[in-house]
Amino acid sequence: MSADPDERERLLARFGRRFDAGSIIFRDDEPATEAFLVQEGRVRLFKQIGAMERSLRVVRPGEVFGESALLRGSTRSATAIALDAVVAVGFDTTTFDEILVFAPEVGTRVAQQLIRRLRDAEDQIEILMVRDAQSKVVVALMKLAQHRGVGGDGRPQALELTPLELSAQVGLDVDSVKRIVLGLRESGYLRVQDERIEIPDIEALRELYGLLGVKDQLRGGTGREAGRPRALSRGA
Ligand code: CMP
Repeated sequence: MSADPDERERLLARFGRRFDAGSIIFRDDEPATEAFLVQEGRVRLFKQIGAMERSLRVVRPGEVFGESALLRGSTRSATAIALDAVVAVGFDTTTFDEILVFAPEVGTRVAQQLIRRLRDAEDQIEILMVRDAQSKVVVALMKLAQHRGVGGDGRPQALELTPLELSAQVGLDVDSVKRIVLGLRESGYLRVQDERIEIPDIEALRELYGLLGVKDQLRGGTGREAGRPRALSRGA
């Protein structure tokens, strides 16, 4: 949102919404009335599939969620729960027009995030087309690293990503994802500290991805088959 603290206060005074930690902000399938730009706290978006919950994303300050509300007559595609005490700017189609007049950068932010979501969805299609579990994780990390770019020191920026978020990206359970990440770390492809994953050499990861596909074909597979992750050392 605006870097100007007065403008921020004005926006929050008119459109600010507060949610207690643990409260449900909205539920899947409800009519979508407001979109939100998070200012403080984190929100988890998930889908209930039978008895299971599938996490889609954790939304952090500066990020938008609930954008279906900007299409009249839509319903929610997921449930949103506040992980912390959350402060957000809430807007519908009418108030969005108003916000655009005095804080146009909010519109830019919303547009940028929707473009990012579209790109993520395209990445997700590619990840889903890959069937081998290790290849799924490798391609997901490659895509995330490519989009993150390099930092001021010219080195690739570390990804800040929990095993839960990575598991939502690749559609595998958290334990499998942790096991694969551990294997990649032991083989030197990744550095992991707390919830930060660093890829020291993206080219090496790309080579591994190619190699996993070739190995699969040599084994007689038709593509990247689902299966147990294999321990691969760099240069293997
Ligand atoms: P909306 O449909 O209004 O409410 C649920 C929100 O979850 C949705 O808007 C998006 O902001 C978000 N959402 C839904 N599906 C996904 C997904 N696959 N990945 C990330 N975010 C999602």
